[in-house]
Amino acid sequence: MRHLMSPLDFTTEELDSLFDLANDIERNPDKYAHACEGKILATCFYEPSTRTRLSFESAMTRLGGRVIGFADASSSSASKGESVSDTIRIISCYADICAMRHPKEGAPMVAAEKSAIPVINAGDGGHQHPTQTLTDLLTIRSLKGRLGNFTIGLCGDLKFGRTVHSLINALVRYDNIRFVFISPEELKVPDYITDMLKDKGIPYQEVIRLEQIMPALDLLYMTRVQKERFFNEEDYVRLKDFYILNASKLTLAKKDMLVLHPLPRVNEISVEVDDDPRAVYFKQAQFGVYVRMALILTLLGKER
Ligand code: NCD
Repeated sequence: MRHLMSPLDFTTEELDSLFDLANDIERNPDKYAHACEGKILATCFYEPSTRTRLSFESAMTRLGGRVIGFADASSSSASKGESVSDTIRIISCYADICAMRHPKEGAPMVAAEKSAIPVINAGDGGHQHPTQTLTDLLTIRSLKGRLGNFTIGLCGDLKFGRTVHSLINALVRYDNIRFVFISPEELKVPDYITDMLKDKGIPYQEVIRLEQIMPALDLLYMTRVQKERFFNEEDYVRLKDFYILNASKLTLAKKDMLVLHPLPRVNEISVEVDDDPRAVYFKQAQFGVYVRMALILTLLGKER
């Protein structure tokens, strides 16, 4: 039995197979419409979510399976003091696979240790968000035709943004990637990440101004300032609108640069950018369903 805790749980070859499957699902959805008949996915979300939870639910439903779950901790027995380990033992009796989001780093891992069914980490605190990373990689591979040989700018909250941490972790396994970290001083990427890049000899640059680096980028990954992880409101208010990508800034970018964003967006991308063909964040959300379908099939051993 396999779980998904980090994007590194799959080799790059396994990821390629997963993405091929996701592309096939996109082209031939009918082929997979009954693949998970009789199977149940549990979504255990201890933290707010729109996309991740609903895209998991959509993915399982499109595979012909069913979904049970809860969308916030207060409606589960966690509010009575039940541990994640006990909850997963119970969920294991009710479902065949579980997607779990939790504000505590490592909670899905604790669950996986006691689980009789595959557990998918759907985001744990500021740590990892592997299914968002699978979504990001599938989007890049499908729209750029490759993973590797590009300069990627990651912009915004690089300190608390788990999607950023997961994506960097996953990208270091591909050739010839140059990272540009664009953030205010207070929201810089954590040292453990830059130390890892130094150890591996992977080039990176840290800058504050987006405009300065825009012309060099093949991909721009925008992120929201993670309000819920701030210790005080004042810092959040000061930093929340530090970056606003608008049409005039985008004129500095390459014609084929892609703008990604895990969403939800707050103010960091003006709505006028949505109509630019380089803005692919809504397409990215669609890829998120295909890749979660491929993941569910793979973890349930139904990929063939
Ligand atoms: C992200 C998350 O939850 O980390 N959202 C998502 O799953 N697409 C990004 C965010 O909340 O900013």
